[in-house]
Amino acid sequence: MKRILVTGGLGFIGSHTVVELQNTGFNVVIIDDLSNSKIEVLDNITEITGKRPDFHQIDLRIKKDVQAFFDNHHIDGIIHFAAFKAVGESVQKPLEYYENNIGSLVYLLQEMRNRNIDHFIFSSSCTVYGQADELPITENAPTKPATSPYGNTKQIGEEIIRGTCKANGLNAIALRYFNPIGAHESVKIGELPLGVPQNLIPYITQTAAGIREQLSIFGDDYDTPDGTAIRDYIHVVDLANAHIAALQRLIDKKNLNNFEYFNVGTGKGSSVLEIVKTFESATNQKLNYKIVDRREGDITAAYADTTIANKELNWKTEKTLEEALQSAWLWQKKQQTS
Ligand code: UFG
Repeated sequence: MKRILVTGGLGFIGSHTVVELQNTGFNVVIIDDLSNSKIEVLDNITEITGKRPDFHQIDLRIKKDVQAFFDNHHIDGIIHFAAFKAVGESVQKPLEYYENNIGSLVYLLQEMRNRNIDHFIFSSSCTVYGQADELPITENAPTKPATSPYGNTKQIGEEIIRGTCKANGLNAIALRYFNPIGAHESVKIGELPLGVPQNLIPYITQTAAGIREQLSIFGDDYDTPDGTAIRDYIHVVDLANAHIAALQRLIDKKNLNNFEYFNVGTGKGSSVLEIVKTFESATNQKLNYKIVDRREGDITAAYADTTIANKELNWKTEKTLEEALQSAWLWQKKQQTS
């Protein structure tokens, strides 16, 4: 069976993808530097799948360590998650973001070229579209100049991969994620935000758990039905499965071009207030919230047109928003008790 390297494989999306890869029968090797993840996740993955992935704590910014890893391991494909991902922090620390998100990508691609390794899946983001002129957002929507160094690393990353595919014959797929949420049904893995959460769902679950006093809803004067901003929230297990589908497409040589990119969302937009209401009804919790000013850099609305991804990847989402929010809440409660 193919041996797949998953970088950032102990992170939120990475860990869920490792589980699905193992359940599909792939052998998994994880590289993670533990900068935003915990080593316990490895045990938890093992409990779910019954198989311990090979794990290496490597900082992908250190080129000689990357080379040494590939000297010692046969790899048939790479799913590359490892990256910094906080939009606000990236504005404060652009060079750290460029070094980590771009440097690591270049080193991995160099090793792939030098050793004739094919099949690369890249974590991209719907942030490449900015505020799209038309909704839902199709893959044909133009990309817009990035509004943060983080977003820029995703755009530049796609360009680097596109150029490598052209020059070196690599086959790659970029998955443009919308907003991943939720946790595995086993409640053994989930999102582990460091410090005060920046994202909506962990802030909601921590507020319901009493860790945060109140959720601030950033703006109710957007041009949307209830005035709050709209996003496409996708269950992380559905998102994880999109990676398996993309990898399989490359392995089966079903890709139409050697660089492809797909939207990975549900196709359904939900406003912040809708999320709050759905969370309350799905979990029987009352959420303390207030409306505050808009958050700088936020767009009004983004949700995916998933027609192309559904067809080409032969993949679709299976979980509901309620299930995603319930699983996020179960995961939150588990954190309090463990
Ligand atoms: N929000 C609140 N209160 C909070 C947190 C968020 O009202 O405490 C709102 C935001 O204003 C936004 C929505 O909830 O309208 C979702 O915010 P998130 O921070 O959860 O997600 P974003 O859509 O802003 O950002 C996410 C990822 C980025 C990625 C981006 C792509 O965090 O990495 O999607 O659009 F780049």
